[in-house]
Amino acid sequence: MTKVPTKVPTKVPTGGAASAMNILFACSELYPLIKTGGLADVAYNLPLALHHQGHKVRIVLPAYRAVLDGLSHLKPVGQINTSIQGYDVSLLKTSLKNTELQVYLVHCPALFDRPGGPYGEFADHSWEDNAQRFGLFCRIVTLIATDRAGLAWQPDLVHCNDWHTALVPMLLRVYQSRPRSLFTIHNLAYQGLFSEADFKALKLPEVIDGVRLWDFRALEFYGQMSFMKAAIVFADAVNTVSRGYAREVLTPQFGCGLDGLLRTIGDRFHGIVNGIDTKFWDPGNDCFIETLYGASSLHRKIFNKLALQSEFHISSYGNGNSNGNNNERPLLGVVSRLTGQKGIDLILETLPRIIESGFDMVVLGSGEKSVEIELQAAAAKYRGRVGVRIGYDERIAHMIIAGADALLIPSRYEPCGLTQMYAQRYGTVPVAHGVGGLADTIIDIPPYTEDIADATGLLFWDFSSSALLEALQRLAFVYDNLLLWRQLQRAGMRENFSWEHSADQYCRLYQSLC
Ligand code: ADP
Ligand code: GLC
Repeated sequence: MTKVPTKVPTKVPTGGAASAMNILFACSELYPLIKTGGLADVAYNLPLALHHQGHKVRIVLPAYRAVLDGLSHLKPVGQINTSIQGYDVSLLKTSLKNTELQVYLVHCPALFDRPGGPYGEFADHSWEDNAQRFGLFCRIVTLIATDRAGLAWQPDLVHCNDWHTALVPMLLRVYQSRPRSLFTIHNLAYQGLFSEADFKALKLPEVIDGVRLWDFRALEFYGQMSFMKAAIVFADAVNTVSRGYAREVLTPQFGCGLDGLLRTIGDRFHGIVNGIDTKFWDPGNDCFIETLYGASSLHRKIFNKLALQSEFHISSYGNGNSNGNNNERPLLGVVSRLTGQKGIDLILETLPRIIESGFDMVVLGSGEKSVEIELQAAAAKYRGRVGVRIGYDERIAHMIIAGADALLIPSRYEPCGLTQMYAQRYGTVPVAHGVGGLADTIIDIPPYTEDIADATGLLFWDFSSSALLEALQRLAFVYDNLLLWRQLQRAGMRENFSWEHSADQYCRLYQSLC
């Protein structure tokens, strides 16, 4: 593995008490309206945490058909006078369910009112006009941010998330009096790369703030247009979603071709780890699971395992280990998008030996068709030992997080990751590749020792079958000793992954920019 630099300016500035700010939060997905991954969770939980700290946060999102279908009583608001790229555009307003947070929906039927997901018809498809779709979205966000959308409201700061919002920090630079901008990289691998023809069709100014846009020092990236570069170059600050990933992306191995640029932005670049929704993910109060439990009633967790085994037709009699875990084989869970990032191919490659070593496994996921097919074939081959459910299913996700003994997360890279934190909260031990946010939020147990200290899970450092199997052997060693196992589970359950701490760090960063 490439050595990552140890000295990088990822610490968020410290400062005095934060005063209330107006914040516009721009994103391409938002739980529970539309979600493909963790970005939607962050877009819900961070604004809510900021709101609880007294800030006035408004969220802006494209009005996809799936969003419109799920909402009633949408009110048109504001007035967008300019004809934007020749499309009819208006703004709708709603509020986020069970919160006071206002959400603006950018309504452009020609670009957003179509079947399928936010980025394409299905998971591994992209709409051909995505440059136009998100280019227009960025223009509208900029109008709102500069109080040009007839809303009589101006934010102090615009918080942009991922490439779909990445032109905003650049477009803001056109205005003398403008809010500050923060750009958060949730996943550097998705950069919003389009052709030069797409760049021309966007009809952006040739030069902004003295910077020629079609230049390798700005938007041009090896002959293509990169949305992501626009934000990295023009935002007042850039961050990513863990300190580990913030260090990794400065290296060629993880930098996706942007490591050089990221190294040049120095102390404009930060790492702030995500939190999780501790109300929605709470084993003591979870409407999706069979039996509620907590750190002092971990013996009840077995009922969730039995329910999970039954849901996935896993035979619920083990080969008799003696640890009191109800004579069960350890059950591994996976809840994941099925993309190259998530390392599902490593699980498939190692599966025969995982099964031989006495583990059962259940998988919930959707994504690349080829991976879905391979997983289903594995379930057919190992009937009764491996169960697979293809699709997005909140109930099953909760059942796995509560019912599995361990959660397997072999991601090739992971900017933050949320499921390892859910798992710890449920006394389900994460077994993960030691990268990015996974290495930052899991404390590994030392090999073969009776003193597991404060460990909360297992990490393997090489992306290889043998490293994964070695971690699973260490897991089995602890699983076989109920006292140690409970110690490991309880250490994870004691961790505080609430959003409060991360929201504090964001506040301090906002404050330092304004
Ligand atoms: P990423 O955003 O890269 O997919 P994260 O771990 O940050 O990874 O977030 C994934 C989120 O999506 C979690 O809330 C997880 O529970 C959820 N999730 C992933 N796949 C599914 C699925 N098939 N069904 C339900 N929830 C899922
Ligand atoms: C991205 C990353 C994931 C992160 C999420 C929310 O989808 O892949 O690691 O947790 O964004 O920031």
